[in-house]
Amino acid sequence: MKAWVLEKQAKIEGRPLKLMEVETPYPKDNEIRVKVLVCGVCRTDIHIAEGDLPLRKPNLILGHEIVGIVDKTGKDVKKFKIGDKIGISWLNSTCGKCKYCLSDRENYCPDFKCTGWDVDGGYAEYAIIKEDSALGLNDIKLEPEDIAPLMCPGIAGYCAFKLTDIEKGEKLGLYGFGPTAYYVLKVANHLSIDTYVSTRSQKNMEVAKKAGAVWAADASKKDLPCKLDKSIVFPPAGNLVEPALTQLEISGILVLAPVSMSTIEIGNYSQNLWGRDIRTLFNVKKSWGEEFLSIANEMQIKAGKEIFPFEELQDALILVRKGKIKEANAVIKVGDW
Ligand SMILES: NC(=O)c1ccc[n+]([C@@H]2O[C@H](COP(=O)([O-])OP(=O)(O)OC[C@H]3O[C@@H](n4cnc5c(N)ncnc54)[C@H](OP(=O)(O)O)[C@@H]3O)[C@@H](O)[C@H]2O)c1
Ligand SMILES: [Zn+2]
Ligand SMILES: [Zn+2]
Repeated sequence: MKAWVLEKQAKIEGRPLKLMEVETPYPKDNEIRVKVLVCGVCRTDIHIAEGDLPLRKPNLILGHEIVGIVDKTGKDVKKFKIGDKIGISWLNSTCGKCKYCLSDRENYCPDFKCTGWDVDGGYAEYAIIKEDSALGLNDIKLEPEDIAPLMCPGIAGYCAFKLTDIEKGEKLGLYGFGPTAYYVLKVANHLSIDTYVSTRSQKNMEVAKKAGAVWAADASKKDLPCKLDKSIVFPPAGNLVEPALTQLEISGILVLAPVSMSTIEIGNYSQNLWGRDIRTLFNVKKSWGEEFLSIANEMQIKAGKEIFPFEELQDALILVRKGKIKEANAVIKVGDW
């Protein structure tokens, strides 16, 4: 099969991925093989390609926002059949035996394996996944290119949203407005939760208001009109944490979504942290992913996407790196069924 392979990490402008012919993978007994239709581009792909995150396997195929069709099944597979539409997210597998896996908290499993990092991902004609980790998409009435970004920013945003424990009637704050925050805003609207968006960009303020934010401005320049019950910080900017805490009611919860973060300093504990909780989004949970897909289908959530042919993956990565994608998401069209 054709695949984009990362042999050696390097700056994305140096085009470290190589398009080559590799052996087509074959599913083990409890695995399915998927013919990849589309795969969304994530900033994490760039972090891995450039070496911000260590390489965990040689000759890695990146990509963890996969939508495809089952084309082969292992002999023990029961949940899926050839022709089924499925999604593969960042969650590739967990051990299934540890105290976390046994208590529906597999996101903390010490053996959590990531698609497109520990295991080959979706920038290839075929990908393999254990049937227990695959997300069934037959009932999702959205186009593959609209489903792909749901697999990472959509599901991760929903997991961050769930961690806030927000309830109807409460006020939610979102700091930073990338693709992840966009999906949270849509879901919050759907659940009649008033959402306040802090973003630096004028364009994002407009997008946020159009998507239903009751307030959208740069909270570092313009005071929020009220205190918030729950908030999520999306950018990896530690300097946003204390100001976000000051905007929370006592009993409020602040969720930090980033996978890495610049230094966090809390200068005034008693005034700004005491009485509030900070939580972090570690890994995603399958049950929350399924819950999100069902809401996304009900709402027919679509975000802006720019579609690139398979051969132009590397150009798409460079554009994402430079922030030059015209839409919120970049999606690679890999194959047809
Ligand atoms: N734990 C997980 O499994 C997981 C999975 C997926 C994503 N994530 C995390 O979710 C976060 C959001 O990802 P994303 O792809 O949606 O968005 P993103 O492209 O990383 O950025 C989010 C927004 O943050 C703002 N921003 C960036 N740098 C900033 C800075 N220094 N100060 C203030 N604002 C800044 C920008 O918004 P404005 O221009 O609007 O200000 C940007 O649009 C990331 O941090 C990512 O690590 C975690
Ligand atoms: Zn991602
Ligand atoms: Zn486990």
